[in-house]
Formats: sequence, structure tokens, C-alpha cells
Amino acid sequence: MAYILAIAGSPSHPSRTYGILEYATQILSQQGLETEIISVRDLPAEDLVFGRYNSPALEKPKALLEQASGVIIATPIYKAAYTGVLKSFLDLLPQKALTGKVILPLATGGTIAHLLSIEYALKPVLGELGARHILSTVYAVDKQIVIQPDGSLQLDEEIDQRLKDVLKEFVEAVNKSLSDLKELAYTN
Ligand SMILES: Cc1cc2nc3c(=O)[nH]c(=O)nc-3n(C[C@H](O)[C@H](O)[C@H](O)COP(=O)(O)O)c2cc1C
Repeated sequence: MAYILAIAGSPSHPSRTYGILEYATQILSQQGLETEIISVRDLPAEDLVFGRYNSPALEKPKALLEQASGVIIATPIYKAAYTGVLKSFLDLLPQKALTGKVILPLATGGTIAHLLSIEYALKPVLGELGARHILSTVYAVDKQIVIQPDGSLQLDEEIDQRLKDVLKEFVEAVNKSLSDLKELAYTN
């Protein structure tokens, strides 16, 4: 069964990006995929700030990442880029931690003006970590996402449909990469 790791990159709680990630993983679970969310805000701040590559707290996220066939990375836009706390986590991952994985970036921002931030800021970093199959980003602006008092999420219809379409593509790509791997193992 395909295993998907979702990485939440917001330092805030409650968080719109976390909410979208939770919603996306629910959709994937309903389709039979195994999913898990890790939130960078739950990692020890000192380990991130001091760049402690060998932090015991990072062992689990690194192991989960290694197992994953697909990775969803969600971040709010901060100062026309992704968050610093997400970068400090990505900096501590092994050199080619994303090799062979299908990647889906999700972002939220106050303004549509920073739609391209993921292209010029995040994607080169994902490439440096070995990612070669990166799907197109789902970018939502704050007014398209409402967090209800009970914590549930209300998404604008257009962004909801866009997310569902991209998740379909994501599942197909993950399943294809798994069957390619099986075929390779069979022929060797
Ligand atoms: C420190 C800070 C910087 C931000 N910078 C930007 C920005 O440059 N462009 C933008 O569109 N939104 C910016 N925003 C708005 C957030 O991206 C937006 O509210 C996002 O949905 C928050 O996501 P979260 O609830 O998951 O933390 C900024 C917010 C904060 C707190």
C-alpha cells in the first residue's frame, strides 16, 4: 500500500495550511492510502535553530520520509517565500531525502501576488533534495479558507475542486512509481 507523508510547515496553530493538509490526507485515506502528518512546529526549536543533524527528535521524521512514496509539503507564504521553520527542517534532511518520491506542494498566502513563490523559492530546494517529480502547486489565498470554531475547514469551491483534481494526479503518479519499482525488482 502506498504510504504518504505530509509535512506541515507553519509555525502557527491553528493553521490554514495544516487544515488543508489534514483535509487532503483524509481524502487520500478514503482512497486506501496510508497517510501521516508531521508538523515542523512540533520539533524541538533548538535542534532546528542550531542545525542539529543528529537530533534524536529527527529520527522519526527521517524514517517516515524514507518509507514514503509520496510527500505533500504545505507551507504558508512568509515574506514572499516559504517559512523559515520549514527551511530549518529541510536543511537537516539527508542530501537526497526526496529522491524517487512524488512531491505535491501546497501553499497558502494572504495575496495571490506571491503565487510564484513556490516556483522560485521552494522548488529549487526540493530539487536539491533529489525531487524530480514535483506536481503543480495548489495555492489558496486566505479568503478561500475558513477555519470554523470547531476546527473544521471550509474551502472555497474552486480551490476544493483544484485540490481534488491534483490529489487524483498525485495518487496516479504514486501508484505508477510503485508499479515501476515492482517491475524493476521483477526484471532484476
Ligand atoms: C510573518 C508573516 C509573513 C507573511 N508574508 C506573506 C507574504 O509575503 N505574502 C503573502 O501572500 N502572505 C503572507 N503572509 C500571510 C500568510 O501566508 C497567510 O495568512 C497564510 O494563510 C498563513 O498560513 P497558516 O495559517 O498555515 O500559518 C504572512 C504571514 C505572516 C505571519
